Amino acid sequence: MDKIVIEGGVPLSGEVEISGAKNAALPIIAATLLAPGEHRLYNVPPLADIRTIKRLLANMGVVFKDGEPEGAHAGAPLLVESSELTSVEAPYELVKTMRAAVLVLGPLVARARQARVSLPGGCAIGARPINLHLKGLEAMGVKINLSQGYVEANARRLQGAEIYFETPTVTGTENLMMAATLAKGTTVLKNAALEPEVGDLARFLIAMGAEIEGIDTDVLTIQGVKELKPATYRIMTDRIEAGTYMAAAAITKGKVTLANAPIAHLTAIMGKFTEAGVRLAAEAGRITIHPGGTLTGVDIRTHPYPGFATDMQAQFMALMSLAKGASIITETIFENRYMHVSELQRLGADISVTGNLAVVRGCKQLQGAPVMATDLRASASLVIAGLAAAGETQVLRVYHLDRGYANLVEKLSALGARIRREPA
Ligand code: EPZ
Repeated sequence: MDKIVIEGGVPLSGEVEISGAKNAALPIIAATLLAPGEHRLYNVPPLADIRTIKRLLANMGVVFKDGEPEGAHAGAPLLVESSELTSVEAPYELVKTMRAAVLVLGPLVARARQARVSLPGGCAIGARPINLHLKGLEAMGVKINLSQGYVEANARRLQGAEIYFETPTVTGTENLMMAATLAKGTTVLKNAALEPEVGDLARFLIAMGAEIEGIDTDVLTIQGVKELKPATYRIMTDRIEAGTYMAAAAITKGKVTLANAPIAHLTAIMGKFTEAGVRLAAEAGRITIHPGGTLTGVDIRTHPYPGFATDMQAQFMALMSLAKGASIITETIFENRYMHVSELQRLGADISVTGNLAVVRGCKQLQGAPVMATDLRASASLVIAGLAAAGETQVLRVYHLDRGYANLVEKLSALGARIRREPA
């Protein structure tokens, strides 16, 4: 197991390329199960979670190959050959390492009329049930049986249905949208999630021949079709990775340009950085963070898109720990997403938590120390704090970071950070 060691205090400078989005690539790779044949996916990020979903699908008979760069598309495609489906099972061993594995449920039921998918169980940031996924599938005529920790789903015929989500759910919307593409009749998903990754998946489904209306709205109408065809698609870039580098640049008072940044998907996040005094310039897919602003405490409240993303809460908290004055952070999506607080306090941050509310009183300087990563975004916040802290910070259990950040140490080193990875 590795750790990351950071000598803090260096203003970052230069340019960093934003990678493909983890939370778009995962459902898009799962969706290849819907159409037998060879799919060509561009901009698939090199992440541990991507390796996990590839292993999951390979277990079902899907074959992956790295293609050659060609034509208009930058980079080499991931070739996904999904003609053979030899199993419809998602085993506990894989699902327990990555909850998003539940995204194979919709495509398997749609294609094979059956699926056996391990229940994901709880995770560090919350209980995260999938009751809304299952309720929606039942409304579409799927028989759901829970047995020995597995969801056993069977459907002689998938039927279109009208489904209202009590709370917008990202992977719930994605699972039911995928199932509906091959159902008989029309499905209407109401109070659907608006996250841009849902829109990216919908556009991939349309590229395969699906009929979907209302993309990027909270009402999605899917007209079921007889079959789908394999497609070529370029995955969007990662708004959360972009926000993470924005925080790293701002906390070190550096000058950094984010290339290939999804500006249109960062309105709420950029709004809060600007309100906190961070100087940003954004145009043509490039965001430049300029030094020189006075970092001031601002309040944030996480919210489903287009609100402030819960996946940026921890990183923004790290930034606020060095701001002038106080900031109140309210986490409304996950009930246990403050695991990073006690580790930031180890670096000298002044944070108090009551229920889902955290009060951050900005301090002058953080001090390097050994800290423990607990989940993906929490570990990003510790790296950000370590970049600003005096002395050495060691971030342990970095496998959490590998799940969602492509070449983080290499990218930060290229921006001048004194950072290295070594065995723990
Ligand atoms: C997606 O998780 C993301 N993961 C998460 O990113 C992200 O934090 C989350 O959406 C919210 O934006 C992927 O896209 C792979 P939800 P998901 O269903 O779909 C409750 C990261 O760091 N709920 O939108 O699992 C749930 O408990 C990860 O990249 C139910 O009650 O989140 C939560 O409180 C972490 N029943 C709320 O809804 C259900 O059936 C929103 O969860 C489903 C959800």
